[in-house]
Amino acid sequence: MHSTPALTPDTTIAVIGAGRLGGVLARALRAAGFDVRGPLRREDRAPDADIALLCVPDSAIPAVAFAARPHARLVGHVSGATPLTDVDFSIHPLQTFTGSEGPDVFRGIGAAIDGRSDGDREVADQLARALGATPFPVDDAHRAEYHAAASFASNFVLTVLDAAERLGRDAGVERAHLAPLVRQTVDNWAASGAASALTGPIVRGDDDTVARQRAASGDLQPLFDALATATRDIVSREGRG
Ligand SMILES: NC(=O)c1ccc[n+]([C@@H]2O[C@H](COP(=O)([O-])OP(=O)(O)OC[C@H]3O[C@@H](n4cnc5c(N)ncnc54)[C@H](OP(=O)(O)O)[C@@H]3O)[C@@H](O)[C@H]2O)c1
Repeated sequence: MHSTPALTPDTTIAVIGAGRLGGVLARALRAAGFDVRGPLRREDRAPDADIALLCVPDSAIPAVAFAARPHARLVGHVSGATPLTDVDFSIHPLQTFTGSEGPDVFRGIGAAIDGRSDGDREVADQLARALGATPFPVDDAHRAEYHAAASFASNFVLTVLDAAERLGRDAGVERAHLAPLVRQTVDNWAASGAASALTGPIVRGDDDTVARQRAASGDLQPLFDALATATRDIVSREGRG
């Protein structure tokens, strides 16, 4: 049985994995006052620490957790999709990181946390708060759903924006011209949800315009059809239009 360490400035944290999130997280934990080892690369020897925080690809978590276990009192991961099978706790910052961000990047964001015991969950909670993030619980039963939501909110938004950029380019419109539209749309959604933020020909019931847009979509027609169907569902579900 491990004993759960209370987090203090003396708490040593080994950040294992020097990729996009590992580097940023090591900088931020150091700025928050912890004694941080790393970010450690695969060729580095695992140092002894109170906490080993795995910032490695999800598929590497079982092996890296096994290797870290003898050197740490607690092992955690930062994956949104991976259950707690191999670790004591998890903290998943709900943000997209490219690796160049400063330590303030965690301020004001949400972080999904879970732990095997109340004490382990408390450690994840304290880590999130030390970073300036707001912790919220997501258990193993809801992880896949939670991570799918995150993919819709970030990855698939980019998929849609890539389609917009390609069609726009054909019409001589640059990404910079589309960006203010995207930002305003996201602000409106954040303030009041998709149904009330929705404008455009589908919510207006302007089927002729929708048909002309569809015909102009070229190889993006299947994506257009899927999104138009999903948009009509929002309109009928929320009684708009
Ligand atoms: N990036 C994000 O936006 C984001 C957001 C939230 C959560 N996360 C989570 O953060 C974790 C890492 O994601 P990432 O985006 O940072 O991935 P990444 O940029 O691919 O970095 C993963 C790092 O892990 C290293 N690694 C692989 N196997 C290792 C081992 N056995 N020992 C030590 N290091 C090892 C890789 O080294 P090599 O290059 O040598 O393979 C690489 O530096 C994932 O669980 C992901 O779900 C990421």
